[in-house]
Amino acid sequence: MTQRVYNGNFMEMAPSLPDKSVDIIIADPPYNASKGGAWSVESGALPGIGGRWKKISEVWDDMPLNDYLAFTLRWLDEARRVLKQTGSMWVHGTYHNIGIINVAMQTLRIEIINEIVWYKRNSFPNLSGRRITASHETILWAHRGGRRDYRFNYEQSKFGNYSDDRLKSPGRQMRTVWDIPNNKSREELAFGAHPAQKPERLSRRLIQLSAQPGDVCLVPFAGSGSECVGAHKEGLRFIGFETDENYVEISRRRLSAAGAP
Ligand SMILES: C[S@@+](CC[C@H](N)C(=O)[O-])C[C@H]1O[C@@H](n2cnc3c(N)ncnc32)[C@H](O)[C@@H]1O
Repeated sequence: MTQRVYNGNFMEMAPSLPDKSVDIIIADPPYNASKGGAWSVESGALPGIGGRWKKISEVWDDMPLNDYLAFTLRWLDEARRVLKQTGSMWVHGTYHNIGIINVAMQTLRIEIINEIVWYKRNSFPNLSGRRITASHETILWAHRGGRRDYRFNYEQSKFGNYSDDRLKSPGRQMRTVWDIPNNKSREELAFGAHPAQKPERLSRRLIQLSAQPGDVCLVPFAGSGSECVGAHKEGLRFIGFETDENYVEISRRRLSAAGAP
């Protein structure tokens, strides 16, 4: 089942994945940055919050807030189910969605290990001059909860080569603010761009810190395939899911160019 980006909805396809079968999950979900509606959560299946889970909108970055919470609980529940006790999940977000993801993780007893600030030194200026220029995103690192058996490659975090990062001192413990430029190489953009495309070097750092060659990396929202390509380049197997067939096509072409089988 690995070495493929499937064209489909992660929540609908995830039941085919066995329990505790993946070593690392890199999730870059829709941020729901477009807008939000009023909160109206119905009581139901999950302790504390619950809610009736609705199918997500076709417009992938625009859901009413209560739908977004239900969507988040649903995919995180599947992610937790398939993650090994030794595994890690890394979830991207901004202020639009990261608070919701944090609440959903705590509701599902997924334990947050660290909150990373990804500092984007070359972020786009704020053209209106009505706000401070947004220049970071957040990444939550978590394990499935219970025994803390998750892998942490501590030596790599301390001695790995992160010379592009002006905030990382060689031989010193890695801190939670990472200076990683958001620019993409020609190779990363060769088959088309995604509006929320992440640089490959970011996912490669996540993998280097918490996985090992041969592991299986699950990418629930694959987009243009950056995290799958990162996993392949780090010697991991990957499984991706993506609803938009145009992005699936970009990811397949990128993976093939990177020599993935
Ligand atoms: C933030 S983007 C991911 C971008 C990716 N990290 C990259 O570098 O290209 C989120 C992606 O999730 C996809 N998506 C939204 N809902 C989904 C679902 N239920 N299952 C699978 N993919 C979904 C969207 O089409 C979008 O391409």
